Amino acid sequence: MRIALVGPPGSGKGTQGELLGHKLSVPHISSGDLLREATRSGTPWGSKAKDYMDRGQLVPDELVLELIKERVSRSDCRGGFLLDGFPRNPDQALALGRVLNGAGLDHVIAIEVAEQSIVERLSGRRTCRGCGRLYHVTFNPPRRAGRCNVCSSELYVRDDDREDTVRERLQVYRRQTEPLMGFYADAGLLRRVDGSGSPEQVTTRILAIVGAGR
Ligand code: AP5
Repeated sequence: MRIALVGPPGSGKGTQGELLGHKLSVPHISSGDLLREATRSGTPWGSKAKDYMDRGQLVPDELVLELIKERVSRSDCRGGFLLDGFPRNPDQALALGRVLNGAGLDHVIAIEVAEQSIVERLSGRRTCRGCGRLYHVTFNPPRRAGRCNVCSSELYVRDDDREDTVRERLQVYRRQTEPLMGFYADAGLLRRVDGSGSPEQVTTRILAIVGAGR
């Protein structure tokens, strides 16, 4: 099954990607995680991407596309995958169609969350430096403060979760990513899901939509 999760910053794409990836036994591919990994490489390419990310703007399509192309071509994606944060605009959606050679996506899930919740979720997010697992200081705290439950690595606050950058990311989402909804609605692939409630409740709603619910 090939699924793309779309939604504003903090709507829970990464959280759902992790939970659904396990349930559906497909790799969870986050364009943000791929980019963050690339920025740590210290190459001029990585520094350029980091500059866009720190300002809350989209990284140029050609840079992201290279990473996605390489990732979906790996053997573990033969049975499908879950994209999180890609595509992010209609041009990326068209490019993805070309990469998949017309095989296309099966479902595009738009996670909808009120803006007040987005602010709460992003201001309390903590990410594991070792394995990338997500936490929230209130909604999903780690067992030991500041340490990952799984690998015990340090938890950190993302550079782009500063208040001014979050505001910019929300504006970029409205301007550049919302047009994607019309694109996928026209293609008959878009399904909107209520992103409120616990992560597990949201997962159950998505599984029902993709026909994999219990
Ligand atoms: P990216 O990493 O994709 O960030 P984003 O889209 O802004 O989304 P987030 O990761 O902030 O949030 P999320 O929806 O995954 O929520 P999460 O599950 O973490 O991209 C970062 C940057 O990279 C972009 O700004 C851009 O520069 C660049 N980029 C990435 N893709 C690109 C592309 N395709 N093209 C160009 N540039 C690109 O949840 C947030 C918090 O809420 C967590 O603490 C979590 O524990 C908590 N939470 C989740 N669900 C719930 C729930 N149901 N109830 C309570 N708390 C919850």
